[in-house]
Order: sequence, then structure tokens, then C-alpha cells
Amino acid sequence: MRFGDQVYSIFGVVDLCVAGDKQGCGIGGTLLSKLEEFAKNGGIDAIVLLAKRTELYLKNGFRVIDAECSWLGLDEHKNLGVLKENISGEIMMKLIRIKEWPAGPIDFLGYMF
Ligand SMILES: CC(C)(COP(=O)(O)OP(=O)(O)OC[C@H]1O[C@@H](n2cnc3c(N)ncnc32)[C@H](O)[C@@H]1OP(=O)(O)O)[C@@H](O)C(=O)NCCC(=O)NCCS
Repeated sequence: MRFGDQVYSIFGVVDLCVAGDKQGCGIGGTLLSKLEEFAKNGGIDAIVLLAKRTELYLKNGFRVIDAECSWLGLDEHKNLGVLKENISGEIMMKLIRIKEWPAGPIDFLGYMF
């Protein structure tokens, strides 16, 4: 992904899910820490995800970032070209190798996961 003028290697988290009867026991948090460990060992710059509810991620060191975003729109196996929108309150990020919170528009360099 590109943040401003800089391109970063990221892990994107999609559809994190824990079985209903096991929720609230720390499994979601453990999965995020394991992912962070993989990211650190793999030279990944940051972990990024989109979420309507932010609690789990805030508790695990993620921050909400608001930014003008562009991505490849996809619908029913057709691409819609590059879409642009100001996204607020839904993009969450945890820094791994990056030292400072990146500024500027976000380019997903592909579809929005
Ligand atoms: C979100 C989810 C993966 C968390 O897994 P978990 O094992 O329950 O997580 P943990 O036990 O480590 O942490 C629980 C905390 O996560 C937060 N949380 C609960 N549901 C959440 C949700 N849908 N989104 C974000 N955070 C959530 C709460 O703060 C909760 O704390 P509480 O039990 O004190 O209220 C799990 O609840 C789930 O699978 N939900 C249904 C699918 C879903 O909504 N996934 C979100 C991405 S699409």
C-alpha cells in the first residue's frame, strides 16, 4: 500500500472470526498477537484492516486512521476502475517497522480488502 509518497509492505486482516461459543475468551486477541509476530519476523511495515467495530483492535494496539483512499473497485467479477473516497473511523492500523504514523492519502494499490 502507498501512504503519501511512500510504499509499504503490509499484512491486511480480513474477516477475522472466532466461533460463537468461544468468543470473549481472548482468542481474537491471541490471533492478532500471532499475526504481529509473523509480521515482525517477515519484515512487514504495518498491519491494516477495516472494521465497523473498533474495540478489539484498539485493545490490541491498533489506531484508527482517517484518510482520502483510492482502490480498485470490483463488483460481480468486473472492475469498476479506481474509486476514491474519504474514509473516516474504519481503517485501523498497527505499526510494525514504521516508526511514525504515515500521513497523506492511502492508495490500496489494488482492491479494498
Ligand atoms: C471480533 C471477534 C473475532 C473477537 O474475537 P474474540 O475471541 O471474542 O476476542 P477477544 O476475546 O480477544 O476479545 C474480546 C473483545 O473484543 C471486542 N469485540 C467483541 N466483538 C467485536 C467485534 N465484532 N468487532 C470488534 N471488537 C469486538 C470486545 O471489546 C470484547 O471485549 P469484551 O468481551 O470485554 O466485550 C469475534 O467476536 C467474532 O468472531 N465476531 C463475529 C465476527 C466479526 O464481527 N468479525 C469482525 C471482522 S469482520
